[in-house]
Amino acid sequence: MSLAARLARPEILALEPYAHASWDPALERLHANENPWRYAGDTSAAGLNRYPEPAPRALEARLAALYGVAPEWLVAGRGSDEGIDLLARAFLTPYRDAVLLCPPTFGMYALAARLQGAAVVEAPLRREAGWALDETAVLAALDRGVKLVFLCTPNNPTGNALPRATVLRIAAAAAERALVVADEAYAEFAADASLVAEISRHPNLVVLRTLSKAYALAGARVGAVIAEPALAALLRRVLPPYAMPTPTAETVAAALEPGPLALAREHIATLIAERARLAAALAALPAVRRVWPSEANFLLVEWADAARALAAARRAGFVLRDFSGRPETPAALRITVGTPAQNQRLLEALATP
Ligand SMILES: Cc1ncc(COP(=O)(O)O)c(C=O)c1O
Repeated sequence: MSLAARLARPEILALEPYAHASWDPALERLHANENPWRYAGDTSAAGLNRYPEPAPRALEARLAALYGVAPEWLVAGRGSDEGIDLLARAFLTPYRDAVLLCPPTFGMYALAARLQGAAVVEAPLRREAGWALDETAVLAALDRGVKLVFLCTPNNPTGNALPRATVLRIAAAAAERALVVADEAYAEFAADASLVAEISRHPNLVVLRTLSKAYALAGARVGAVIAEPALAALLRRVLPPYAMPTPTAETVAAALEPGPLALAREHIATLIAERARLAAALAALPAVRRVWPSEANFLLVEWADAARALAAARRAGFVLRDFSGRPETPAALRITVGTPAQNQRLLEALATP
């Protein structure tokens, strides 16, 4: 029995997948109760009057090439948010299973688990060790019915990347019991290579990627779950048919052409350089207590008076993410790195709060 079959909810294994209308673009479609005419403003290639490809094979092949895996290792979804949701629905049996989280971290993991009726077990990051993983606590918590371990690297909102060796040790320890999900939403801004190449050695390792951050496509809603093929096939059972809208699939096809990709890489390099400049300039402000090192496209910054800094940014027309109310991140604001001009204006506003 495969690892996927051993860990999945029995209901998912027994599920008869939805039988969608057959897909053959060469034939005239009188089988899916679509409208035969396009709406007046329809500039799409495929026609919005038609349902999209049930499983977007071409899009998945492009994403697989981008991330360096074979297409059967990748499931495309509406953002990595959908990947998190698919994992929760496929693997967490309500009122029995749990997820393991390392807060402070991205909020969707706990939300997806709770929506599924699963418990949330926490092994907090060690703030005074630079938000390091508490490996001992993570390993000890694996015994508490944990089916999914979410490790966000680089982590949102702290910005630090988790050491590969630690993530892989946790994956090895969890091998037969749980999936270790490495959320690499910000990987393109980090120094280390992706963990994708490690999946063949650690079949319980799952990697989440997204086009929302580095590829400037947050509005298109495209992410990917990368996992060994039996796991990926299982997740496809949970994904609704026609999940990827035609405009999104066509946008991604264009955005992953060499020209736009080269520009995206230039912007990534600029954001990394600006992150360093912004971090140094913020650290020099008397109102700033601490700028946490970041490998993402944001900085977590602690202030003498966070409310004052927030208000100063607001007066200059900027909204920042306020984490100051949370016990693990007192007086902290998360600042997304913007264009050089935006960063300059923000710095000026924050210099005189
Ligand atoms: C760590 C992390 N994972 C996933 C997501 C969701 O991204 P997507 O737009 O791909 O759903 C975010 C968004 O902020 C994030 O910070």
